[in-house]
Amino acid sequence: MNDDFLPLRSKTILLVITGGVAAYKSLELIRLLRKSGAEVRAILTKGGAEFVTPLSVAALSGHAAYQDLFSLKDETEMGHIRLSREADLVVVAPASADFIAKMAQGRADDLASTTLLACNKPILIAPAMNCEMWSKPAFQRNLSTLRHDGAEVIGPAHGDLACGEVGSGRMVEAAEIFEKITLMLQRNLELRPLRGLRALVTSGPTYEPIDPVRFIGNRSSGKQGHAIAAELAAMGAEVTLITGPVQIPPPTVAHMIKVETAVQMRDACTGLLPQGIDIAVCAAAVADWRVSEPAQHKIKKSGDQAGLQLELTQNDDILKMISNHHNRPKLVVGFAAETENLLGFAAKKLKSKNCDWIVANDVGPKESDKESDIEPNMLGKTCGGVFGSDKNQAILLTQSAQIPWKLMSKQELAKNLVAEIVKFFER
Ligand SMILES: Cc1cc2nc3c(=O)[nH]c(=O)nc-3n(C[C@H](O)[C@H](O)[C@H](O)COP(=O)(O)O)c2cc1C
Repeated sequence: MNDDFLPLRSKTILLVITGGVAAYKSLELIRLLRKSGAEVRAILTKGGAEFVTPLSVAALSGHAAYQDLFSLKDETEMGHIRLSREADLVVVAPASADFIAKMAQGRADDLASTTLLACNKPILIAPAMNCEMWSKPAFQRNLSTLRHDGAEVIGPAHGDLACGEVGSGRMVEAAEIFEKITLMLQRNLELRPLRGLRALVTSGPTYEPIDPVRFIGNRSSGKQGHAIAAELAAMGAEVTLITGPVQIPPPTVAHMIKVETAVQMRDACTGLLPQGIDIAVCAAAVADWRVSEPAQHKIKKSGDQAGLQLELTQNDDILKMISNHHNRPKLVVGFAAETENLLGFAAKKLKSKNCDWIVANDVGPKESDKESDIEPNMLGKTCGGVFGSDKNQAILLTQSAQIPWKLMSKQELAKNLVAEIVKFFER
């Protein structure tokens, strides 16, 4: 067949077949994928191998069925890391209840679970099981964990089950999974509106050393900046995330630079600009001041009640520096956290920094604190429940418009902001 008619040519699918009767349908899925030009690599779990043979999988996929984490042959030929790196998409079909539980717990005790934990690609899960298993709260909790973590789920269908019962739990047909794979690949590989653009995102706090063991920091968690970096990458941008010290997992982005101080963050940003950055989003909570001369050794107490004077020096304004740089990105977005006169201060900031947009957060105490998901401690009372929270409420200020966003998750806010960025580059 002419290559032009092979919609999945040059795409590689990693198929994980786990232990369920529906495993026979995965053989048909391999056939459909290969017919449309895709390379298929398959992992068989121990349970999976009870239902289909490695020989059938190898004959249909054209490659050995990978089964053993500790096999010298499998690991040298195609290690567990490479299996997901070389794939464009990972599909778990059928996904047994047991395997879904393992994935949700982040376990890595066989080749399939280790590969999935080490995976940096989109994941599609096709559950298949008895209807009682499907409806159990324990199972549904596991599945929603995986959904929350970003996996896509297809099915199950309602109907006759292999066990003779009728209900929800049937794995959807191979053709339906094939359609979904095609859609996901298009969305991920071709229709990504920011492909070809380079983005820089700063995130998290900075730590300014007082001495080797103490620092001045702030309560930024990095959740908002990381969510924006992930969303820009999902839309196809080549993202470099420059992050201060955070306790959250890294998003899937092309490059990550970890820094501690504002000076390091500034240098990392200005070092990148000559490479040609199209989008800069400055979401980090950069310290305004640093200790002028941090002590070389831990500062000791002197006398009972003696105080300590620290001399502070103002840090460079990274947002202003990027906005006025001779390699200025086409779009520079800053964040403004204000406790009063939100719009007034944010508009002033937009002008004084010479950036294009400001995402203005009202971090003053307000009614919506009651909806905040963080403990009602001093933090919640003093900064509007934004720092550290999973939610955010903001107004986007551009040169010509004000777009108010309601209280939403930081992921949703990232999606809204990136949707505006996409519109900007479509103009
Ligand atoms: C005949 C038979 C059919 C099974 N079908 C399913 C099934 O459809 N879905 C499921 O989640 N488990 C099913 N199981 C149970 C799993 O095979 C079992 O939980 C196994 O440990 C799963 O292995 P895995 O983690 O490699 O998938 C079945 C077991 C047997 C004996």
